[in-house]
Amino acid sequence: MKILNPFAIVLLFSALAFSCTQRMDEPEQVETEKMLGYCVEKVQKTVVNLSPNDSLPRNIYPGQTQWNKVGIHDWTSGFWPGILWYAYEASGDSAILEAAQNFTAPLKGVLDVAVSDHDLGFQLYNSFGNGFRLVDDSTYHYAVLTAADSLATLYNPKVGTTLSWPSQVKKMNWPHNTIIDNMINLELLFYAAKNGGDQHLYDIAVKHAETSMHTLIRPDYTIYHVAVFDTVDGQFIKGVTHQGYADDSMWARGQGWGIYGYTMCYRETGKLEFLETAQKLADVFLERLPEDGIPYWDFDDPSIPDAPKDASAACVAASAMLELSEFMTDETVKLKYRNAAVSLLAKLSSPEYLSGDTNQAFLLHSTGHKPKGSEIDASIIYADYYYLEALLRLSKIERGIKLY
Ligand code: GLY
Repeated sequence: MKILNPFAIVLLFSALAFSCTQRMDEPEQVETEKMLGYCVEKVQKTVVNLSPNDSLPRNIYPGQTQWNKVGIHDWTSGFWPGILWYAYEASGDSAILEAAQNFTAPLKGVLDVAVSDHDLGFQLYNSFGNGFRLVDDSTYHYAVLTAADSLATLYNPKVGTTLSWPSQVKKMNWPHNTIIDNMINLELLFYAAKNGGDQHLYDIAVKHAETSMHTLIRPDYTIYHVAVFDTVDGQFIKGVTHQGYADDSMWARGQGWGIYGYTMCYRETGKLEFLETAQKLADVFLERLPEDGIPYWDFDDPSIPDAPKDASAACVAASAMLELSEFMTDETVKLKYRNAAVSLLAKLSSPEYLSGDTNQAFLLHSTGHKPKGSEIDASIIYADYYYLEALLRLSKIERGIKLY
């Protein structure tokens, strides 16, 4: 038997140790361009079966193959036009561009009625905002400016936030209510303020983010879904839930909205407290992820591991963490968030979560409103929107292109 000399043994063990460490530190991989191609192809197939009217894809339940649709006033109406804009950006396909224009146009009707909640941002920024980024159509720009002015009418200066749900004031006895989802819609105000709108839109957005930071976010950096305030003296009364498991639980998509919202607020303001908040929210999200990497709909549902997953929360968080990673100056921390986002995308892109030929959506296994029993383990349009947005962001990062 040939005896290895001690020097060779040391080398062998070092090589083994190195390869194990390397494997542990390496993120799972996602084939970014291939998955972008998958999304574009699905959009191309779906779009020929949809007529551009005011009927927009929202969800597909298990067992169904086609999108169930909603009208332009539904809070999710901007996601399908947004997907079309992103798919056009990814492919340059002129048929998708035409579809994007045709599905965006009817959303102008949202501005014909009085503002009824904060969702104007989801509806009009994803559609007209993305459109204006890609084609120089001034009607898109003015739709966004009008929407921003409209959203600002919900602002209460005593509280320092916009009223998210006027409909819940009487129904739930939540005099002034602000939800974490509302953070996303501040992007509309920031856009307007820097593109010809009134400067007070910027101030409102900053104040809203600060007030939410001190009320919606708990000391352990988990998030209440809803903050309730006194309308007259502006005081924070309580934190409650609407779509989560319990008032003090960690609703997965809410945590995702928080990471996304504070990262975006840092991009728009340069205020370090927003960046630090986004990081802490992301850290809690990552620390508490289950073994397979995709969150349950609420991290505190006692029926875990039998609770439904929420792929949409993973998509929102992945997209947010890609932008967050780009703001990190320390290379290790930058890689931490980028790798975490890539791991989420890798899992979402696996056969377990990818819809493939199952239905028209990109992804399966999202949860919309568990307490109401709606959209459980479904394909949901906003999961697809943030999945595609995250892939586009990753593609830009990989090609060394600035995100904004
Ligand atoms: N904005 C509502 C939701 O996240 O379901």
